[in-house]
Amino acid sequence: MGVVRHLRQVDADDAGIDLAFRADVHAGLSQPQKAVPARWFYDATGSALFEDITALPEYYPTRSETDLLKRHAAAMAAAIGPGRAVVELGSGSSTKTPLLLEAIAPAAYVPVDISGDFLRDSARALAARFPGLAVYPVEADFTHQVELPREIGPLPKLGFFPGSTIGNMVARTAIDLLRSWRGSLGDGSLLLIGIDRIKDIGVLTSAYDDPAGVTAAFNLNLLERINRELDGTIPVENFAHRAVWNDVHARIEMHLVAACDMEFRVDGRAYHMAKGETIHSENSHKYGLRDANLLLRAGGWTPVATWDDADPAFALILAQATEFRSAP
Ligand code: AVJ
Repeated sequence: MGVVRHLRQVDADDAGIDLAFRADVHAGLSQPQKAVPARWFYDATGSALFEDITALPEYYPTRSETDLLKRHAAAMAAAIGPGRAVVELGSGSSTKTPLLLEAIAPAAYVPVDISGDFLRDSARALAARFPGLAVYPVEADFTHQVELPREIGPLPKLGFFPGSTIGNMVARTAIDLLRSWRGSLGDGSLLLIGIDRIKDIGVLTSAYDDPAGVTAAFNLNLLERINRELDGTIPVENFAHRAVWNDVHARIEMHLVAACDMEFRVDGRAYHMAKGETIHSENSHKYGLRDANLLLRAGGWTPVATWDDADPAFALILAQATEFRSAP
């Protein structure tokens, strides 16, 4: 079957620049605490840098999750069953996906990612590896309503959201997103979601501030992307990477810290930053056993199985759209 059709669902200008990127950067730089949503890390350079992060010894989530997929593939396959359309949200390089697809014998695969070129290559590679599988890459921001290919309409769905990407969202946004997928994947669907656990703060912070500086380069690339795509004059060399644990919100926060007072322009618009001021570039929320289940239930998904015996701790949770209510 191979790649049947590449669907594109992003609004770009004549130069191919995502209109939402421009809007998010101006809105984010105009706030008292400057902030840019983490999804804008993933241009071609950022996506490649993230792949490098996943190979770092300090960055355990990818290893832990891959380990769970390998060790529990048979149990997952038994719980999921064959013949589903697998919709992967934020598929990136799809490196973990073959482990799942091999185990469950799906009817179709729909990788959804905001990084178009990256998506094209990884969808092609995956289709070559599974020649009988129909692949429908969808280039879209999965935090907005994604239109699924009509061909998979009648098939039962499995949403696959690995990597603990849900951790990028604050609870309210995460719940809105889970509810929206509950609607678009429909009754009878399942969701297999990766969630990173709360653990030793030293283990957490070094995963987001590695000595080789790959995470720093990933964070700083956001500023370089703004300069490249939005005609920015940000003095990137005057910024430092910072990763801190916020215990109240149970999350790692990444910031870009201004090393001196500065003025710069983006699209001709002037911005000022004082020394020590930061641009908040990412949240990575971590969840305990009960709060992960509560988050899923609040989003309309009932947890039915949890695999979380990896070290360092990470969880893959299978949840179903069918509602179970012991009381209102
Ligand atoms: C892709 C969102 C899961 O939060 O761990 C890795 C991104 N940022 N290192 C994460 C990331 C810095 C990653 N997610």
